[in-house]
Amino acid sequence: PSSSSTKSGSIPSFESTYMFKEIMYQPKVVSRIYDLYSQPVQIRKMDLLCSKISKCRRILFLSCGTSYFATLAILSSFEHVLELNGLNCDVYSINASTRVDDIPRIRSSDVCIMVTQSGETADVLKIAKKAVAQGATVAAITNSLFSSATRIAGQMQTFYINAGVEVAVASTKAFSGQILTMMLLLSYLRGGIAEYQNTLSILPDFSVLLTNTLINSADIMQMYAAKISRHPSCLVVGRGKLSSVAYEGALKMKEVSYIHAEGIASGDLKHGTLALVHDDMPVIYLATPLPSKETCGTGSDSLHIGLSQITSRVENRDNILVIATEEFAKKMSSDMNVIIIPSIQSILKEQTKLSYFIEKTDCLQLLMNVVPLQLLSLFSACTRGWNVDKPRNLAKSVTVL
Ligand code: G6P
Repeated sequence: PSSSSTKSGSIPSFESTYMFKEIMYQPKVVSRIYDLYSQPVQIRKMDLLCSKISKCRRILFLSCGTSYFATLAILSSFEHVLELNGLNCDVYSINASTRVDDIPRIRSSDVCIMVTQSGETADVLKIAKKAVAQGATVAAITNSLFSSATRIAGQMQTFYINAGVEVAVASTKAFSGQILTMMLLLSYLRGGIAEYQNTLSILPDFSVLLTNTLINSADIMQMYAAKISRHPSCLVVGRGKLSSVAYEGALKMKEVSYIHAEGIASGDLKHGTLALVHDDMPVIYLATPLPSKETCGTGSDSLHIGLSQITSRVENRDNILVIATEEFAKKMSSDMNVIIIPSIQSILKEQTKLSYFIEKTDCLQLLMNVVPLQLLSLFSACTRGWNVDKPRNLAKSVTVL
């Protein structure tokens, strides 16, 4: 291993790491998205892409790693909106790394959207170039305006996430920027400029909520990190749309702490992974009911069932951490670690800014849930003495196939 990945006496404290600064910068990313996407030129770009989407047969998101999990987080919201709008169009998320040698069929009637922080990920670019050759519309959601992705998509079909330069190899603030940009696109698609502006107007309040969540979760995550860092592996479990957050939380854990982590959909546990649940296996369970429970099945009841599938298999619940809303936590037994995350739906409702378009609250809730998992991986890595900014064997931008 390179010296950057080994333990040494000079490991920086977590406050001085880029990863910590980038995690804490996320509320600012929300404000920067608000500022950028209030500009008329961005609204015009949204309008142009949405009119192409309205006529297309398929939307294909192309992405890898954290960017792929951002697309998974929003996928079913897109499906729901396409259905609501009566559009004859389907949406898929393609993990470019898994299809680069076996490129899926792309037609001229498709809209492909690259989602890539760096804009340079070779697997994504290869599929995007094929899409261009097939005559498909190709757009980009990226943090780099001067990247290959932008050159392929063109300036008018590039949506900048405006997250600022991301230095740490493990992506954090770019994930937020990607979700928010996709959410704005989705809002425009759902209800044009009125819905788009309604969504934008929520962002300043959301930025404050995200700051509070970061501050409030830090201590508990440090305590749980001390516990989890003694274990070789852990499970991160989410249900329905929450599974995308579980995948991202597990990826962060692997990348920087070198703890083997498996992100899994709660419903999938019974098909094998439940065999790994025992007293010494830390389990992080996501339990924030989502507003659109009618469409995605992630209401409070199903979350309780999912949790009991785990708790009934262990005697010592001290290794379980539940990330829950206050309402959910009240109904939990007291022998588990719990961290309370704000319920976006109830807060936005109180502020009377929740429009009929419920999907955006799902997106914001998912984003809120990621933040404590990012902190947990950072603290676990620092507790183990690793350099979080330069994890071994990994590169920030993967420009080779
Ligand atoms: C690498 C990085 C990840 C990133 C992925 C996709 O694997 O280490 O942090 O999520 O590439 O990168 P992109 O720039 O396309 O978002």
